[in-house]
Amino acid sequence: MPERAPAIRSLAQLKGATMACRECPIGEFATQSVIGEGAAHARLMLVGEQPGDQEDLQGHPFVGPAGKLLARALEAAGIPREETFVSNAVKHFKFELRGKRRIHKSPTQREAAACLHWLEDEIRLVQPAALVALGATAARQLLGRAVPVTAERGHWHPRPDGREVLVTLHPSALLRVADAESRHAAFDAFVADLRQARRVLR
Ligand code: URA
Repeated sequence: MPERAPAIRSLAQLKGATMACRECPIGEFATQSVIGEGAAHARLMLVGEQPGDQEDLQGHPFVGPAGKLLARALEAAGIPREETFVSNAVKHFKFELRGKRRIHKSPTQREAAACLHWLEDEIRLVQPAALVALGATAARQLLGRAVPVTAERGHWHPRPDGREVLVTLHPSALLRVADAESRHAAFDAFVADLRQARRVLR
């Protein structure tokens, strides 16, 4: 009979298990796994795509440029980040080396799917009342279907477990907006989406 992995009972155990995970090829090249962090029983969980370069080096989610933008947006939306739990759909950084630079590469659907059980472990441990999907990878993993994010952003969608998921853009998308005026407008729209999740906090 195939050996069954032990059930994950704590975030510390999850960190260890994801560090050793080779269920897809990404983990072999990353510095370390990066799991979610925040309030242990946060009512609101935010889920991004995967750790970036800084997150991979520091071992914490959303600490690089996209994380700083997310922090500003949460503050503007009246959501204290320390009351939330912030995580990612994929637990290792996938990149392509260009010279010395490590350039972010999106995980394939197969890689994201292989990581889903770790995200479900986090949801089971934290027991959030609701979640925010930051971008298409997170939305797909949380809702189990491809989500056209620009059409469905700002709306709540139910998961099979009954929890509601607010879909919005990934903060990196805002960093890529070239002109300042459009960037400000995109930031305001992102904050307006996030503001809808404020009611989940008590
Ligand atoms: N982008 C993500 O999706 N997650 C991080 O932790 C950082 C950047």
